[in-house]
Parts: sequence; structure tokens; C-alpha cells
Amino acid sequence: MGAEVVIEGLTKSFGRQTIWRDVTLTLPPGEVSVMLGPSGTGKSVFLKSMIGLLKPDGGKCLINGVDIVRCSEHKLYETRKLFGVLFQDGALFGSMNLYDNVAFPLREHTKKSESEIRRIVFEKLEMTGLAGAEKKLPGEISGGMRKRAGLARALVLDPEIILVDEPDSGLDPVRTTYISQLFLDVNAQSDATFLIVTHNINLARTVPDNLGMLFRKELVMFGPREVLLTSEEPVVKQFLNGRMDGPIGMSEEKDSATIAAERAMFEAGHHVGGVEEITGIPEQMQPAPGMPERMGAHRRKGRVMKILGTLPPEAQQGIIDSLSPEEQQRYGFHSDGRRPAGDHASSTANFDTAYQTAQGDLR
Ligand SMILES: Nc1ncnc2c1ncn2[C@@H]1O[C@H](COP(=O)(O)OP(=O)(O)OP(=O)(O)O)[C@@H](O)[C@H]1O
Ligand SMILES: [Mg+2]
Repeated sequence: MGAEVVIEGLTKSFGRQTIWRDVTLTLPPGEVSVMLGPSGTGKSVFLKSMIGLLKPDGGKCLINGVDIVRCSEHKLYETRKLFGVLFQDGALFGSMNLYDNVAFPLREHTKKSESEIRRIVFEKLEMTGLAGAEKKLPGEISGGMRKRAGLARALVLDPEIILVDEPDSGLDPVRTTYISQLFLDVNAQSDATFLIVTHNINLARTVPDNLGMLFRKELVMFGPREVLLTSEEPVVKQFLNGRMDGPIGMSEEKDSATIAAERAMFEAGHHVGGVEEITGIPEQMQPAPGMPERMGAHRRKGRVMKILGTLPPEAQQGIIDSLSPEEQQRYGFHSDGRRPAGDHASSTANFDTAYQTAQGDLR
């Protein structure tokens, strides 16, 4: 099972510039999480802080219980081995061919023999669809192949946590979907904990178990995907629909005078851009046929049913709708997925039942 990441009150600034403050969230083991946020909100800084490449000013970042903000250099070095990181541009060494690039962490961090290294490198190249390309230099392959090579390299140490920064940058929508499929397949095979940072709305809506968003130096929300996807929060809605109308501006955030001036322009008929309206919860992508079941998704079901009653009603309904008829029955809902007819009290009673059932399941 992947590592658990517990982040409590994490704060990071550069000099007097606070990047984000008081970020608290948990990445549940083996689940796939996505962090959204406008440019410059500190998503890359967040990933770098999680692996100790940047030092937060305060708070905790517990990786399997080890606080990497405060632990010794030695412990940090050891804990870093749990991570596989796919940087924005693949971060491959330009003068090494793909084989040597992918072999690099094994040569650096392990005492494995060259024949063992060879077996692992070929396994990962095969997994990422790069078999046969091992002799190519990074400059000789396409952006999509470089991403996959970066992923192959991130996987060689069998990481418990995989961090991905902007997997879609430089990729067309189809290649972005292919790499998303690869993430879910790797997750199904390895049960590693994933955190993917992206601007890509399609990916955010269809891939993760959990979704969060950074804005205005804070974590706006983080939780089961259904919560953010049904949120009425203006910044979340604006971001998901890619519109100009809302609190996010061209450079950082807008002040209230700018918002009012723009609102008048849009009301007078100027196109707000983006798409008409993206609402609702699309079906989640699944591992490719033949892959094992995602254990993280299985555990998430029990976890989310346990907290169901604490979520907003739209998110609750989305989660109930995503259950199979048998699961709905098991958790005490009508077989058509509707909440039991009747008043609020009866549905609350039912969520209590759901909570109990989920608890029973977990024991
Ligand atoms: N090493 C550094 N020293 C000083 N400031 C930095 C450093 N790294 C990042 N920053 C600042 O932190 C802020 C957040 O940067 P970051 O790269 O994390 O944004 P981001 O959310 O990843 O943006 P994008 O979506 O464009 O990749 C920026 O204002 C940036 O200038
Ligand atoms: Mg970034």
C-alpha cells in the first residue's frame, strides 16, 4: 500500500512573500489526488516542499509518520526514496539516452547489479510504451515520449508516493488522456499514492479520487472529487469553466473594482470565454482492461461512505449515484440510487445507517 501523507498547517514564504499558509490535507494511501490552482499560486512550490527540496516555514508534512520539515538530513534522504517525481518537462539528462536516464536512480540509490538494473529498466520502459526507444536521446523524441520516459524513471525505485507536476503541459488532449490512463494503470498495479498538479480540467474531472484547489495563498478546498465538482464556490466554478467572469484575473487575483467593471461588460453581452457550463460529476476513468482492481478506489469507497453525512448534499447525491445497485442496497439506499423519500430526518437516519455499515465494512 502507498504511503500516507498528512500535511498540517503548512506555510511557505520567500522573504516577505507568503506563497500559501496553513495548508492542511491528507493524501489517503493509494488514492489519486489532483491539486488545481491558477498559475503562480504555488503548486510547484507545494510539490517541492513535500519532498524537502524547499523548506516550509511552519507546519508539518508527515510521510508515513516522519515529519520531513523537521527530521534529520539522513532521515530526509531515506524518506525521499519513497517518492517518484515526474517534473514538468520530464527533467531528463539531455546527454544520456533513455536507458541511462531511467537507470540513473537505480545506479545512484541502490547496489543492484547491472543485469538487475537492465531487467527493471526494460520493465518500466515496456510499461510506459517505450520499448525499443531505449537508445534515443531526449532531444530525439516527442514531448509525449519525454513525459513517459520521465514517468518510467520516476517508477524504477517502486515509489510509494508519485508526484506529478503538470503532466499535460506540451501534450495534446489525446496524449493527455493516454498519460492519465497510464497513471491509473500504474496506480492499479502499484497501489502508490498519487498527487497530480494540473490546470487540465478534463483530467481533474475524470481521473482523481480527491480534488483540491489552491487560491489566494490558501487551500480553498480538498476532499472527495464530488465535493469540488459540485461546488458553488465562485473561484472553483470559474476555474472549472475557464471563464473570465469571476475572482481569478490575468495576473493574480482581481480587486473588487475590476470585478465590477468586468461584470458590467459581460452583462452588456461581451463573451466571458471558456465553455458554456460544465457541471456535474462525470464518470471516473478506470484502469485499462486486464489491470488489477484499484485498491485505493476500493478503500476510498469505505472511507467516503464513513464521512458521507458531513459532505454537502450535492456531493452526497453524486457519491450515492456512483454506487452500484448492490452497494446502494447494502448502504441502505433505494435501488434506483435516490435518497429515501420523506423528510430530512429520515434521510439523516439513513446516512447514520450508511455510516454504521461503512464502519462494519472496515472492521
Ligand atoms: N525558489 C524561489 N524563490 C523565490 N520565489 C519563488 C521560488 N520558487 C517559486 N517562487 C515564487 O512562488 C510563487 C509560486 O510559484 P509556483 O511555481 O509554485 O507556481 P505554480 O502554481 O506552480 O504556477 P504554474 O501553474 O504557472 O506552474 C511564484 O510567485 C514564484 O515566483
Ligand atoms: Mg508550476
